Amino acid sequence: MFGELDALRLSKVLTDIQLGMHYRARPTVAQLLVDQTNRLLPDTMRSPAPGAYDTKPHMLRNRGIAQLGRVLERDQVEAVHAYFRSRPCFAAHVAGKSDGTPRTIEQCAERGHYGSYTIADVLNAPFLPELANREDILSLVESYLGCPPTLYSVNAFWSFPAQNRPWPGIQTFHRDFDDFRFCTMFLFLTDLTPENGAHYYIPGTHRIEMMNKVFAEKTAAWQQQFAGQPEKMPKVDFDGLFAENADLNEPCAHLFTGAIDTVTAEAGSAVIEDTYGLHKGDIPKSNRLVVWFRYGLYKNLTNYRDSIMPLPRGALAGRIPETLRHKYINRLMVEP
Ligand SMILES: [Fe+2]
Repeated sequence: MFGELDALRLSKVLTDIQLGMHYRARPTVAQLLVDQTNRLLPDTMRSPAPGAYDTKPHMLRNRGIAQLGRVLERDQVEAVHAYFRSRPCFAAHVAGKSDGTPRTIEQCAERGHYGSYTIADVLNAPFLPELANREDILSLVESYLGCPPTLYSVNAFWSFPAQNRPWPGIQTFHRDFDDFRFCTMFLFLTDLTPENGAHYYIPGTHRIEMMNKVFAEKTAAWQQQFAGQPEKMPKVDFDGLFAENADLNEPCAHLFTGAIDTVTAEAGSAVIEDTYGLHKGDIPKSNRLVVWFRYGLYKNLTNYRDSIMPLPRGALAGRIPETLRHKYINRLMVEP
């Protein structure tokens, strides 16, 4: 009866711990969660390891971002667009945080930056649950996390143009703090170009040792450049780069100019990222549709904040394999 209260309390406490502790301890807690997950789950629930010549696990581990290339064909992208056009849109980045009033895409665009769809509509969309469970993607995700993943958030959202101010914490450089270790697959359903709706990621910023290296190099360069005029040296609060801060644009501009990945993509392609690493979206010039699938270690607070309730058992029968492993991975999306 109070099982859900226990789960909610633990997820709140774990989030408080993550935000309150020193960021250097984060990987240690992540590994404790990974080890316990592996002890509790049978070995039969592990995904096969990625192929030895697959570069994506290496890219995700070291850069924090791996390109998946095209995952949906053009006609499949059109089918997904047609489906979402037939569904009610909600005027928020995540439908669970909206005023609950169903609107058209155009009505949402008039009201602000974002429009989004309910979890049920995202999960019932053509091709999407299958993509979230594609064997090579689950294998990549598990190799990154270190244990069978938990799919804790899915979303499909429009970003609208004609907004002259970036939305802090989404369209400014920031970190996500969903879990102690997690990654997000972004599926782009409209074309992204450098001039229109690009996504930005700063490689290596998901790892403390990489941040240390960049910071040390920059500081040494600045000391040379501003020798005798220390007051002119850019002031960057290193610890502040690991804080929950909605706008890290200014320190990022000092530290990472020339080192920022501009993610451009054809509609139907995807990337997978550790969004603890510094990232942001952009105000697009035309309506931009993106889907995300987020994989982590446990039922975290983001799952509650996004108001995700699992669909009834069997709701995706025939679309997701009926194995114990898939039931575990998808348990927050569909009752197992
Ligand atoms: Fe984010």
